[in-house]
Amino acid sequence: MKIAVLGAGHVGPVVARLALAAGYPVAIAGSGDPARIAMITEFLAPGAVPLSASDAVADADLVVLAIPWHRFGTLEPGMFAGKVVVDAMNHWPPAAQPLGTSEEVAARLVGAHVVKTLNHIAYQDMEPPNGRAVGLAGDDAAAVDVVSEFLRRIGFEPVPVGPLAAGRLLEPGSPVFGVAVRRPEFEQFAKEQS
Ligand SMILES: NC(=O)c1ccc[n+]([C@@H]2O[C@H](COP(=O)([O-])OP(=O)(O)OC[C@H]3O[C@@H](n4cnc5c(N)ncnc54)[C@H](OP(=O)(O)O)[C@@H]3O)[C@@H](O)[C@H]2O)c1
Repeated sequence: MKIAVLGAGHVGPVVARLALAAGYPVAIAGSGDPARIAMITEFLAPGAVPLSASDAVADADLVVLAIPWHRFGTLEPGMFAGKVVVDAMNHWPPAAQPLGTSEEVAARLVGAHVVKTLNHIAYQDMEPPNGRAVGLAGDDAAAVDVVSEFLRRIGFEPVPVGPLAAGRLLEPGSPVFGVAVRRPEFEQFAKEQS
């Protein structure tokens, strides 16, 4: 399975490193010319291939969105059709929103199989994963399985919390946002909220 990470800021290179360490081929993209992120990539995620966002996505099976929410609208939606898309984004700064980010992502990226996860862990706490529980939410069971397997292989303990709408339970303000918990506590949390 080929991974594309969109975003070469704080989160993107960490996810790329974890995926590389687990043996996945990884491409990484910023918003512009891949030459601009060549040095960052060599330094922070050696082995990842810097590409343009469209080239990275075209060749990938699983795409991780690790870009600021206010930039989401700059992505060309058509290129995600048929892809498993991990939404690691948050509304930032946090504010009351009628929909979670992933519901908005799924509405815009028609044909993509969107799964929300990784958004509730600070980038500096993602390594080493050490079996830390990570919640995931998705409407497409097959995509949730694919992403669960990805998360397990990179070192997390995936805990499904329900459909994309339940992904709001993973957003800023949630008791699990930014807090390291193991599976039993996470499952207890999910049960209490559902
Ligand atoms: N920071 C955390 O601890 C943390 C933890 C969990 C989740 N998150 C979420 O993860 C996302 C990324 O956070 P971050 O802290 O990594 O942000 P960041 O450090 O500001 O990095 C953002 C990256 O996204 C790239 N980007 C912007 N528009 C793009 C586009 N259209 N295509 C490809 N790449 C694009 C930027 O590239 P350019 O420089 O070329 O514009 C930059 O490399 C946010 O939604 C955030 O809420 C953050």
